[in-house]
Amino acid sequence: MKNILITGGAGYIGSHTCKALAQAGYNPITFDNLSAGHKHAVKWGPLEIGDIRDSEALSKVFKKYKTEAVIHFASKIVVSESVREPESYYDNNVNGTLSLLNVMQTHSINVIVFSSTAAVYGYPETNPIEESHPLLPINPYGETKLKCEELLEKYRDTHGINYIALRYFNAAGADPTSELREEHEPETHLIPLLLKAAKENKPFSLFGNDYKTPDGTCIRDYIHVTDLASAHIKSLEYLINNQRSQCLNLGTGKGYSVREVLEAAKKITSKKINEVISERREGDPDSLVAKADAAQKILDWHPQQSDLHNIIRTAWQ
Ligand code: UFG
Repeated sequence: MKNILITGGAGYIGSHTCKALAQAGYNPITFDNLSAGHKHAVKWGPLEIGDIRDSEALSKVFKKYKTEAVIHFASKIVVSESVREPESYYDNNVNGTLSLLNVMQTHSINVIVFSSTAAVYGYPETNPIEESHPLLPINPYGETKLKCEELLEKYRDTHGINYIALRYFNAAGADPTSELREEHEPETHLIPLLLKAAKENKPFSLFGNDYKTPDGTCIRDYIHVTDLASAHIKSLEYLINNQRSQCLNLGTGKGYSVREVLEAAKKITSKKINEVISERREGDPDSLVAKADAAQKILDWHPQQSDLHNIIRTAWQ
């Protein structure tokens, strides 16, 4: 069984990917400092507790397990926090990736799949957004992910480490058999907050209804976490068979407004959701939708679970 090192394997997308890897016959080795991930989410392979900035700890794990490739999720991800404390984002995300790449090079591991984000594009000049869109992030979170993409390119050119950077749009939903779920602390994402408001009969703050969209609320491209997981496995296999490094969008190509998601959540939960129209949240573009053809074509990847109702249903379940 091939060992794959999963940094951040105890987190939301990481743990769903570990499950998919185990189902596909791999042995996912989670390397996680548990700063945001959960021990209970690591069920499909060993957990090695450590920080990606700690080269010695990483090196020990590579010595312990003969590792075929790395999938690198470990990262700080809260946009608003990145504005307040950019230094911790540069340290965790950029220095952490640098440390990981150096240790990979020492151990002759030359395949990495990296969690990137649509935040590398900043305010879109065109929608849907193609991979060739200018890269002009508007917050430190997006900046650090872009720096990591640049590092990957350098390490490919100078050390032959091949990569695929997957630029996620809006990850959402949960494992269809309810073995895993989204558990962020604090939670900032739309769908879990809507479901919490439904469950606890508390108000939901809708951030702005005067955007340039048909119903005035922001449009986003929601992609089910198990579809994201399968894209990581396809990327891994693509890189092992074919060394063409690249950046790929992961989305469905179809956007939904916050109001559409809210209405769908009411329907699926059969609960009232009391919305309160609040101020716009800083840095929210009107619309972000992926041009998603490249990943579909290159990886032969086709989202199966990303229908909006299925996303909300699995999250609610
Ligand atoms: N929203 C609300 N109320 C809430 C939470 C969210 O109205 O309580 C709205 C937001 O204003 C936005 C939409 O719901 O219009 C989606 O917000 P999320 O926070 O769920 O997701 P974002 O689109 O802001 O962020 C996602 C990822 C980021 C990534 C970004 C890329 O979570 O990591 O896409 O653009 F940086």
